[in-house]
Amino acid sequence: MKQVSLKIKNVSKVFKDFKGREVRAVDDISFEVNPGEFVTLLGPSGCGKTTTLRMIAGFEKPTSGMILINDVNVVEIPPWKRDTAMVFQSYGLFPHMNVAENIAYGLKMRKVPKEEIEKRVKAILKVVGLEGFEERPPSSLSGGQQQRVALARALVVEPSVLLFDEPLSNLDVLLREQMRVEIKRIQKEVGITAIYVTHDRTEALTLSDKIVLMKGGKIEQIGTPEEIYEKPVSKFAAEFMGKINFFPIDVVEFQPDKTVVKLKNAVYEIPSVPTKRSEKYVLGCRPEGLKLSKEGPVKGIITTIVYLGNFSEYYIQTDYGEVMVKVLPPFDKNLTEGREVFIEVIPEIAKIIPES
Ligand SMILES: Nc1ncnc2c1ncn2[C@@H]1O[C@H](COP(=O)(O)OP(=O)(O)O)[C@@H](O)[C@H]1O
Ligand SMILES: [Mg+2]
Repeated sequence: MKQVSLKIKNVSKVFKDFKGREVRAVDDISFEVNPGEFVTLLGPSGCGKTTTLRMIAGFEKPTSGMILINDVNVVEIPPWKRDTAMVFQSYGLFPHMNVAENIAYGLKMRKVPKEEIEKRVKAILKVVGLEGFEERPPSSLSGGQQQRVALARALVVEPSVLLFDEPLSNLDVLLREQMRVEIKRIQKEVGITAIYVTHDRTEALTLSDKIVLMKGGKIEQIGTPEEIYEKPVSKFAAEFMGKINFFPIDVVEFQPDKTVVKLKNAVYEIPSVPTKRSEKYVLGCRPEGLKLSKEGPVKGIITTIVYLGNFSEYYIQTDYGEVMVKVLPPFDKNLTEGREVFIEVIPEIAKIIPES
C-alpha cells in the first residue's frame, strides 16, 4: 500500500444559501496527516466536517487554501484522478450486483485484467472477514456486513487516502462497537492514510491517532485522544470529550509546571499549567476527578444516585449547579438521596481551563 501525507493549508469554503447569503462552512483551517495516520475530524453537526472531507475527495473546491497530497496541490485535480476513496453512512452498494461484482466495479472501470480482479477481490474479502460471500446479493447481508463490503470496495482500488463520513451511524450500538475495532484493525493492516468524520467522541477516542476537533467551521484543538481529553484548550473542548464539571477559581500563582488556585477557601496545587493564557479560568473536574467527603469547598445535596454496578454516579445540587461525581465501591450507606455532602477535588487530574 502506498503511504501518502496530506496537508490542509488555510482552507476555507464559502457556500451561498438559498437566499444568496454567504455561509462560511469551513473557515481557514490547517492540519496535517502523516503517512499511514488515522485522523478524525470530530465536532457537532454543521461544524464543517463533511465539507472538509468532500474538499479532500475533490467533490467540492475550496474557496481558498491548498490541499496537498504528498506535497502536490490537488485543488484543481478532479475527484476521479485524486486517488482517494470514500466510505459513506449509507453504504451505497449496487443492489443488482452481488458482493464480488460490487467490489470489482472500481477495478473494472480502471480496466484491470479479469484474473487480477478475481485475485484482488478474494484478497480484500479476506481482509474484511467476508470470505465466501462473493455470490451473495447485498440485500441478504446485515448492516455490518454491507458496511464491510463498502469498505472492501473502497480499499480494493488501493487508494492513497481513505475517507470515512460517519460510516457507523446506521448500525446498532453493538455492531458499531464491533465495526469500530474492525475499521481500526483493517486500517492498520493495510497501512493506509485515513480521515474519519464523526460527531461521536467515543469513536474518535478509540479510532484516532490524532483528533482534529472542529467548531463553527474552525479548528478548536488538534491532538492525540489523550491530549484533547486530558488537556482541553477550552470549555467547549472539555465538554465535547466527555462529562465534566466546571468551578470558578482564582489563580493564586503560575509556576513553571504547576498552578496554585483557590476554590472558595480551598487552595490546590494543580500539577499543570493552562494551555492558553486568559483573563479568567475555571477548574475542570471530570466525574472521576471529584470525591465525596465530610469536608471540601463545595457543599450540596444529593439529588440522584445512579447505580451502574462497578461504579455509581452521584448527582449533587450545589451553588455551582448540578455536579456529577463518579463513586467507586464500597459505597457509603449513609450517603443517600436528599443528604447533604461535601465535594473534594482530586488536584492531580483537575484541569485549568480558560473561561473564554
Ligand atoms: N452545498 C451547500 N450549500 C449551502 N450550505 C452548505 C452546503 N453544504 C454544507 N453547507 C453548510 O455548511 C455548514 C457545514 O456543513 P457540513 O460540512 O455538512 O457539516 P458537518 O458535516 O460537520 O455536519 C452547515 O451550516 C451547512 O448547512
Ligand atoms: Mg456531515
